[in-house]
Amino acid sequence: MADIATASARTTIDVLRAIGEDTRFRIVALLHHGELTVSDLTDILGQSQPRISRHLKLLTEAGVVEKHREGAWAFFDLVAHGPVAAMVGVAIATADPDDPVLANDLDRLALVRNQRAATAQEYFAAIADRWDEERSLHAPDDVVEAAIVAALADRPYRSVLDMGTGTGRMLQLLIGDRLDVRAIGLDNSHSMLGVARANLERAEVHGVDLRQGDVYSPPVEPGFDLVVVHQVLHFLHDPARAVHEARRLLNPGGRLLIVDFAPHGLEFLRTDHAHRRLGFRDDTVVGWLQQSGLHADEPRRIEPPDDARGLHDDERLVVTLWLARDIEVPATTADFAAELAAEVASGSTSDAVPEGAL
Ligand SMILES: C[S@@+](CC[C@H](N)C(=O)[O-])C[C@H]1O[C@@H](n2cnc3c(N)ncnc32)[C@H](O)[C@@H]1O
Repeated sequence: MADIATASARTTIDVLRAIGEDTRFRIVALLHHGELTVSDLTDILGQSQPRISRHLKLLTEAGVVEKHREGAWAFFDLVAHGPVAAMVGVAIATADPDDPVLANDLDRLALVRNQRAATAQEYFAAIADRWDEERSLHAPDDVVEAAIVAALADRPYRSVLDMGTGTGRMLQLLIGDRLDVRAIGLDNSHSMLGVARANLERAEVHGVDLRQGDVYSPPVEPGFDLVVVHQVLHFLHDPARAVHEARRLLNPGGRLLIVDFAPHGLEFLRTDHAHRRLGFRDDTVVGWLQQSGLHADEPRRIEPPDDARGLHDDERLVVTLWLARDIEVPATTADFAAELAAEVASGSTSDAVPEGAL
């Protein structure tokens, strides 16, 4: 604990009081597994919405929990940094994980999340064959796709993982007729993969491995120059975890491209299109990327077409590209540089340094 910044005695007492109550401790233990809404907590804990809201208010006032509003929904999360986060972390870690009440809460959390995921999957199964049409709600695809290609142009790639591949559109764009790229498309919807398979065959994109699997536990070994998460995060209950998984699969020097909406107020995308999040702020996504140890480029925004100009700002769907890179030097280059340095030191080097090797 010596390296943890201290809080005032007053703050410490307030935090201990806030979490020192049965329901509030259970809420804190649940939020430790990712952000939740009041309605999630109501379903899990079986308590009324006003009671849950009152507990969340007390936790928020004590600085234990942070709230962020997104349209009609509010998400609650534990504070991530500082002495209060450390104090709460110790309290959670100390509690017996086999405690029947806490273990039951976690089972209920898994159940609620599975129900939400099943709703989204039903939606994808229903719309699989007309998904490309749904995508036209925002900036035209050709504009977004040109921006993606331009953003990735500064560096070649030989392996691509498309997480939540849907109809396989990103694979068509990024692989095309190249035979030198190893590509995997991952999706948890069997129906979507069926459409992707047909589309890739029709477009004569060969050698793509389409796999059914979840972005939270991808059935894929690490080793990709490029991982793409295109219009997927807004469906997820724990987007930060998906970003972390995507990052884990990168090669040294690899890049992670996230494409999703900037914050908006189109609530119907939740009710009619299974979205969970109404877009993401730059600092949120960049924060996830940086926490994963990546270096994030400046986000690129793609505005909707001119005919959306009459709409309120929060009704316009702005697509954002967040590109981040692992700044570790690829092993081959690093090894070569080390060898070269050793040779220079021993005086045995020749002048023959391959072009572009360093
Ligand atoms: C909006 S579509 C986007 C598809 C594609 N990336 C594109 O932009 O054309 C979202 C896709 O994410 C998939 N998906 C949603 N949650 C997922 C999860 N937890 N694991 C894997 N795929 C998921 C859905 O099945 C769907 O095909």
